[in-house]
Order: sequence, then C-alpha cells, then structure tokens
Amino acid sequence: MKILVIGGGGREHALAWRIAQSPRVSRVLVSPGNGGTATDPALLNVPGETVADWLRIAQQEEVHFTVVGPEAPLAAGVVDAFRAAGLRIFGPTQAAARLEGSKDFAKQFMRRHGVPTARSATFEEAAPAHAYIDAEGAPIVIKADGLAAGKGVVVAMTLAEAHQAVDDMLGGSLGGAGARVLVEQFLTGEEASFIVMVDGQHVLPLASSQDHKRLLDGDHGPNTGGMGAYSPAPVVTPALHRRILRDIIQPTVVGMASEGTVFTGFLYAGVMIDAEGNPSTLEFNCRMGDPETQPIMMRLKSDLTVLLDHAIDGTLDQVEADWDRRVAVGVVLAAEGYPQSPRKGDVIEGLKKLPEHTMVFHAGTALVDGAVQTAGGRVLCVTALADTLRQARSAVYEATDGIRFAGRQFRTDIGWRALAAPVRH
Ligand code: AMP
Ligand code: GLY
Repeated sequence: MKILVIGGGGREHALAWRIAQSPRVSRVLVSPGNGGTATDPALLNVPGETVADWLRIAQQEEVHFTVVGPEAPLAAGVVDAFRAAGLRIFGPTQAAARLEGSKDFAKQFMRRHGVPTARSATFEEAAPAHAYIDAEGAPIVIKADGLAAGKGVVVAMTLAEAHQAVDDMLGGSLGGAGARVLVEQFLTGEEASFIVMVDGQHVLPLASSQDHKRLLDGDHGPNTGGMGAYSPAPVVTPALHRRILRDIIQPTVVGMASEGTVFTGFLYAGVMIDAEGNPSTLEFNCRMGDPETQPIMMRLKSDLTVLLDHAIDGTLDQVEADWDRRVAVGVVLAAEGYPQSPRKGDVIEGLKKLPEHTMVFHAGTALVDGAVQTAGGRVLCVTALADTLRQARSAVYEATDGIRFAGRQFRTDIGWRALAAPVRH
C-alpha cells in the first residue's frame, strides 16, 4: 500500500523513513519532500503545496492514509477536507488545531480545564500591556497569539526588552500573528517535549525527548526551531510521565471532546519541570516536534503504520508502542545566517558514507542537477543511536564531522543537561 506524508522537513523525512520500513508499505509519497526524500529509493517526492494538491495526490495514487507533518496544512483545514472526501488522514481538524494556532485559545482552554500553566494576560492594545508588564516586573515572557514559525516568543530578561517586544508584535513585526499578545509569567526549570498520539479518546504516549531551542552552546543566542534533540529525556521520570498524562494530556483530550472539538492527531505538550518536579504547560503543538521526531523515530520499533491505522480507527487502546532501550541523539546542521536570514545554494558533501546506527534526516535541502544543496535554515539532522547518551553523542558528532557545506553551524553540546545533572525530584 501507499502512504502520503505531507511536509518537507526533517520531521517528515524521519516519519517517511520509518513508515517505509513497514512490510505493508510499497511506497511512501512525500509532498513536497526535500533533497533527502528525493534520494531515498523507498520514498517518492510529489510536488504539492495546497490542500487541493494533496487531495488530488491521495485520490489519484489511492493512498491508504495520509499523515500531516507541519502545522500550516492543519490550520488550513487539510484534515477536514480529507474527511469530507472520505479519505483516511491522521491529524487534528482545523478547529482542534487552534490549540497550537492561538496561544490565547490554548491558555483559556487550560484555565477552563485546570491544566497547569503559567499565569498570563492577553492584550490587543499596547498601553494596558505595558502597564501589566510594569506591575509584574522582569523577567517576563511575551508571546504572539498566532503561528509565527518559532519567532513568536520573547523571553525578556529586562522590562525594556519586554516593552520593546510588545511594541514590535502589536506594531506588526509578525503580521497578523502578533495582533494579539500574551504576557506570561517567567518559569524556571528544565523543559521536555511530551508527545502522544490521540484518536479522539485514547492516548498512546511516544518516547520522551528534549529539544534545544537556542542557537548556541549552553543555551545562548536566539530561539530557533530547534538545534538538536535526544530521546529519552531522563527528566521525565516514570512518576512524572504518569503525572503529565494525568494532569495535562488527559484533561486536554477530555476537554477538547467535551467542547465539541474532538482532538485527533499528534499532541505535543511542551512542559517546564520545576525543581520540585512539578510540570507546567508552556505550549501545545498539534503535530510532532522537529527535531524531536528524528531521535524518536530512530527508537521506535513498532510498525508505525499499524499505530497510525489504530489512531485513525479510534482503537489506540488496542496497541502499544515498542521502543529501543538505547538513546538517540539528533544534531541539526543549520545554514549560515540561520535563524535570521539563512543562505541557500551551498553544495553538501560527505552524505554518502554513514556509520551504522546513524541516519541523516534532511530538512532544508534540494536535489539540483544530481547534487544535494542547502535550501533552508535547518539543513540536516544527523541522528545516532547507541547504548548510552555519551556514546550516542560521540557517534553523532563523528558522523557530523564528515558532512560539510559552507557556513555550516551546529551546537556541540546536544544532551548536555542529561549529562550534567542527575534527576533529583
Ligand atoms: P513556546 O513556543 O511557547 O514553547 O516558547 C518557546 C520557548 O520559549 C520555550 O521552549 C521556552 O524555552 C521559552 N518559554 C516559553 N514560555 C516560557 C515561560 N513562561 N517561562 C520561561 N520560558 C518560556
Ligand atoms: N522542536 C519544537 C517544535 O517542533 O515546535
């Protein structure tokens, strides 16, 4: 059978690669895909950028089901359109995708359902926002309400930065996404990505992971889409895992259904865990994380198409996911100028010789005249699997060494928190 994966980033390469290993699958179509999905013989890139394109591809190719990677097609209603056409697809409807698409909606929803999250207030006018910031003090966090491709959050360490961020966002620096802003209490602790599959009612947790959002080593520099990730995240102890399911995921799934916006799809809670081990919800995404998907897919041993079929059929309670006990680490190689203005068109060398248990998932790459070139900010995610975090890190950096393009930048400390500090709570 054929499967369609919508998207063209590292997350979609990793999903397509894992799906292609199922004995049930003859071909995985990726739309639009990238230079990596173009060169993998089990995958086939199909041009497409609108819901109408993907509907046509799914119908013409008679795909068994479709999986959606990024948030934009979900927010555009791809799931609603596929269902209306009688096609199988995994993802949230446009209405349910508001959990990610509007931070104000998510905040109000969490308040209604008692989901732990930081205190905040929402503003459409600058003057009351400035007054609120002065009353709260710094550090404080300013968030654009809408989708802003990773640029919508400013963690302001000073009042001046906070005021500036409000003026920028309400002044239109992010377009319509910043027409409303949230001013949120600053939280400290350690972050983790907690991602589950939801069939409307049942929940199947995926392996835990931790992303590294800042550009530079030691978590310095600007926020990015994510510079690397590893799985599992030891900060998510078994007790904390149960607590996040009970206090964050379950009330969210039940609450969405009770409000008439049944949630289906990947649900990603970004959580902050304080020194006592209490989780607080930083954000919801209604899709898998990128780059978290890359190490998570390296560790998944179950047939992903079986899990997805159950998820689409509403029978996730009948399956379990089987995980490789080893550790996977993914390091993003980004283009020069990322995140502000990434340079494109540099030839990438050294992609051919890969050590065992290592994968290079492509993101911003394109196949041009038979050569793979950079074509976006996050270019590749080199991912390795090994018995320990230390070994996985050595393996991933050894593989990274051999892959070169002009201006390549990457963090050298992916996984540092897990190596630096034992979990105490
Ligand atoms: P978000 O897109 O909401 O996850 O925010 C992006 C990043 O900003 C998060 O991964 C955190 O590192 C940081 N962040 C968001 N909200 C807060 C908060 N309330 N306190 C501290 N840091 C935050
Ligand atoms: N890695 C963060 C995200 O996918 O939103």
